[in-house]
Amino acid sequence: MMPLSSLEKAYIPQIETHPAPLPPLKNHPLILEIGPGRGDFLFQLAEENPRHFILAIEYKNRRYEKLVQRIEKRRLANVLLVKGEARFVLKSYLKDILFEKVFILFSDPWPKKRHAKHRLIEAEFLSLLSRLMCPGGELIVTTDDESYAQWMQREFEKVPCLLPTDKKDQYPTIFETFYAQKWKGEGRSLNAFCFVNGPY
Ligand SMILES: C[S@@+](CC[C@H](N)C(=O)[O-])C[C@H]1O[C@@H](n2cnc3c(N)ncnc32)[C@H](O)[C@@H]1O
Repeated sequence: MMPLSSLEKAYIPQIETHPAPLPPLKNHPLILEIGPGRGDFLFQLAEENPRHFILAIEYKNRRYEKLVQRIEKRRLANVLLVKGEARFVLKSYLKDILFEKVFILFSDPWPKKRHAKHRLIEAEFLSLLSRLMCPGGELIVTTDDESYAQWMQREFEKVPCLLPTDKKDQYPTIFETFYAQKWKGEGRSLNAFCFVNGPY
């Protein structure tokens, strides 16, 4: 996995959870969203999957605080929020858990070449995700950035246990998040990738 940059390292000591502490996660059906932003898709997942815990990892303080307020306002008991850097949280903080589905919607594209090292979607992180997903679990990733989409395609090809499927059509609202709407309005094309976790 790409070494964490100083930007990402800055978030490591700041792990917080809502609720605190988290309830036991082992053997509970789990869905993961990385980078929920304002939380629109997260809340929808929570309402549509009442028997699951929906775990969301968000590293920006302000966004985390707003999400906590919105979760409380909506009384969503099945949303679990972690404030932290996703790679660090998944590698070092959460243990012995398997996700049925993982959503990463419009993760920051870091379009400048010298910033590409910050991109979340790369082969080693995808391999980590695959190890944290149930057999047959689904990974859904979107981007509005053409060069990031091409980069992703190359990175996905390095992780053969993630098998491409067309199941993304089952999730029409992935293109209705806050950022999806914003970029659709600007005429940008939206890309979605969907994979099923195969044998390792
Ligand atoms: C462009 S926004 C997209 C938000 C939302 N998914 C949507 O589609 O509206 C990306 C979000 O991911 C969060 N994020 C980016 N990199 C992250 C990381 N490494 N760990 C945790 N959160 C991250 C950002 O703080 C931001 O909230």
